[in-house]
Amino acid sequence: MSTAAVLSRARLAARPQLTGSVVGAMGLTLTVEGVVAAVGDLVEVGAGLLAEVVAVSRDRLTCMPLGEISGVHAGAPVRATGMPLQVPVGEALLGRVLDGLGRPVDGLGPLGAGVDWVDLASETPHALSRRRVEEPLPVGVRALDTLVPVGKGQRLGIFAGSGVGKSTLLAQITRGTEADVRVIGLIGERGREVKEFLEENLGAEGMARTVVVVATSDEPPLVRLKAAFVATRIAEGFRDQGRDVLLLMDSITRTAMAQREVGLSAGEPPATRGYPPSVFAMMPRLLEKAGPGATGSITGLYTVLVEGDDHNEPIADTARSILDGHVVLTRRLATAGHFPAVDVLESISRVAGAVTAPARMADAREMRRLMGALRDVKELVEIGAYQAGSDPLVDRARMLSPAIDAFLRQSLEDSTAPDDAWAMLHRLVTAG
Ligand SMILES: Nc1ncnc2c1ncn2[C@@H]1O[C@H](COP(=O)(O)OP(=O)(O)OP(=O)(O)O)[C@@H](O)[C@H]1O
Ligand SMILES: [Mg+2]
Repeated sequence: MSTAAVLSRARLAARPQLTGSVVGAMGLTLTVEGVVAAVGDLVEVGAGLLAEVVAVSRDRLTCMPLGEISGVHAGAPVRATGMPLQVPVGEALLGRVLDGLGRPVDGLGPLGAGVDWVDLASETPHALSRRRVEEPLPVGVRALDTLVPVGKGQRLGIFAGSGVGKSTLLAQITRGTEADVRVIGLIGERGREVKEFLEENLGAEGMARTVVVVATSDEPPLVRLKAAFVATRIAEGFRDQGRDVLLLMDSITRTAMAQREVGLSAGEPPATRGYPPSVFAMMPRLLEKAGPGATGSITGLYTVLVEGDDHNEPIADTARSILDGHVVLTRRLATAGHFPAVDVLESISRVAGAVTAPARMADAREMRRLMGALRDVKELVEIGAYQAGSDPLVDRARMLSPAIDAFLRQSLEDSTAPDDAWAMLHRLVTAG
């Protein structure tokens, strides 16, 4: 914290404490009188309900509660806390499950002295002070490690319609990754799924190097929105210690929907397909925080729900323009039982060339060429109109097709070391 910030905190702490009161509550906002606070600060309403100041005027504050608003009545006492939301960071968080505001919800007791508390707001590293993405971050999934490689500090979207396997792929990556530290943000998901994710996919040993931040779909929108930033802030804490962090966010779409609810309730006009402008301002603010730092890195994987399988839907479109790569999952593969349902030819990693050795790159290109040939003649083959012998590349691809399939399919329990995946790919593309 800067000296100026410390001084201003001290000044706030030393001033006489004023208790104001609620004068109105409408939608998601509370109007408060008699309290002095800055935009972004928290106030406490009644006993324990925190609310964030979103607008100020000479004698009134407009606040958004970070909790259930029902039961708040006019005249309820309001106290300034003098500071914005504080987020815990540090080693002591590993193995813990936190709520959207960074409070433990795993029944393992308070966070204790091992954590540092920092403001939720943080400085995004300046573009010029960031290192480049140059090293791969293996995730244990063959189709990704070889054909859509993830780099340390890269930000990648996983795009798919509902129920195509986004969350399952994230879980598989969580287990297979070589990252030092994993931070998982589960935003707006169903409560049932969260328990499943933690118990079945992570297990005790997986949890030991993981921090989970959860805000389920029944939480107030502002809490869901904060949760995405809290998870990111925790990842930044580890990055600033020089660690390579894998940040997994499921899902960025539900985070955008939370921002939509907040924006509309604050009186913003709906612009693109019901999303107010603040949604499109929030997304780069959140996603730009991941990436390489001066030391350490945050590799961000964000799931993006493409509603009605429409990849040009505004949230998917905005996410794609900010991220440095996208993995597309298709329903066609999922319904055929092909998991992970990665559509390799539609997926790209913009750092592939920088994180892959040239010889391996050549193998990956050859694999894509074979897959492309198969795709091009698929319909001809289906109607029996393809004549064997008319294109040697297609003939070779058709012969290798079962092997290509076997390489791309990978069961959930199976995690392949990157060198093994590359060796398999090399054998495949040099066969025949
Ligand atoms: N790797 C896999 N192996 C076997 N089955 C899978 C796999 N991935 C997904 N599935 C099947 O697909 C279903 C949906 O997967 P998942 O919940 O991961 O999808 P999602 O895209 O996250 O869905 P939503 O949009 O609802 O969040 C799972 O319940 C499972 O039956
Ligand atoms: Mg899901």
